Amino acid sequence: MESWQRIETIARRLFRLYGYGEVRTPILENTELFSRTIGTETDIVQKEMYSIADSKGKNFSLRPEGTAPVVRAYLQHGLFHDGQIDKLYYIGPMFRRERPQKGRYRQFHQIGAEVLGSDHPAIEAEVIDMLSLFLQEVGFTSGELLINSVGDSQCRPSYIKQLKKEIDNHLSEFCSDCRRRSNVNPLRVLDCKSPSCQPLIEQLPSILDYLCHECRQHFDEFRHYLDLYEISYRVEPRLVRGLDYYIRTTFEMVDERIGPTQNAILGGGRYDGLSELLGGPNEKGFGFALGIERLALLLSDEKKVIQDYQRPQPDIFLAHLDKPSFEECLKIVQQLRSQQISAYLDFEPRSLKAQMRLANRLKTRYVCVVGLNEIDSGTFSIKRMSDGSEISVKLEAIAEHVKEK
Ligand code: HAM
Repeated sequence: MESWQRIETIARRLFRLYGYGEVRTPILENTELFSRTIGTETDIVQKEMYSIADSKGKNFSLRPEGTAPVVRAYLQHGLFHDGQIDKLYYIGPMFRRERPQKGRYRQFHQIGAEVLGSDHPAIEAEVIDMLSLFLQEVGFTSGELLINSVGDSQCRPSYIKQLKKEIDNHLSEFCSDCRRRSNVNPLRVLDCKSPSCQPLIEQLPSILDYLCHECRQHFDEFRHYLDLYEISYRVEPRLVRGLDYYIRTTFEMVDERIGPTQNAILGGGRYDGLSELLGGPNEKGFGFALGIERLALLLSDEKKVIQDYQRPQPDIFLAHLDKPSFEECLKIVQQLRSQQISAYLDFEPRSLKAQMRLANRLKTRYVCVVGLNEIDSGTFSIKRMSDGSEISVKLEAIAEHVKEK
């Protein structure tokens, strides 16, 4: 949790700098939201969703991703406005029924961000710039950025036609999933994770050779802005991503330590048209999501996260001698905490010696023993644990003393 919190804290602070506000959507959504946007032929919709029917037979699914819910919420609440860009981020659990293994879980957590309302390639580069800074701050410096363009409704159909033709030429050599995909959605073949299909996929035509003028220009400009930010990348023409809603720019950051095939720590792209699929206006969108578990895993590989849980260290430990002093301590602790001092009080009727042992174990910075004398005089002796020095202070001065030192 310490390393997760570090990752999340850095994300929240940095995303805010770039103008993102937080959005929280429900864990359960209509199943249709995902099948319509992610695509009925994707692995996610075909085999990975956890779905339930309620008592009226309506189907809901645990969200497998966050983009469709964000756009759904945006439409539902009428938040699209002409000429306005909105930047939103989310942190939360997602669910996919995959085979669990290192870096792949059925409940996992994403940090994601979406920019709604712009199709400018510079905003895409800005998102990647934000990610680079984020990864740098959390201490992840390996990883390779892959980029691609998957074209749009103008140019993709002719590519898909050619793709299908070439898949069909070797159809019997592909896995059974790919044989089916070749008929219904050939693009998904490029996304197949089966090792036996990989050499065949290598031989398939590149979508980059089929881009229309507008998509080619968009991609060139995107690359130009990445260069401007001095962000290095590799163009990977097979990068179509496992969700159908993408058009034009797609990207992933990969690290082979996660695994040979599913090795992305983050992925994203452009999804103009997703809003229309949901019955809304033709709105633009671009974003990404990052797997927190995968990032934490790689950071722990590099010994950049706190390996063991560290109990928060108290500023001051209050030791009590009997019931009246225990009750006095309750009040003192309450007062100290209201002054932002982390005070610790033991609830068991332990001897003073046992309390001191506990105080040592907790690595408290100060100890204060509270007995009848202290209560009567209103003066307390504060012992600094690092050097054993003691000082007498009035009750009101305890917080100030502990804070100062
Ligand atoms: P995605 O590539 O499906 O994209 O997931 C993003 C990231 O979530 C992956 O790169 C990976 O780190 C993590 N992830 C996915 N599945 C698992 C799993 N089973 N266990 C652990 N981590 C996993 C999306 O979800 C898109 N919504 C991203 C996006 C946002 N595109 C545009 N905006």
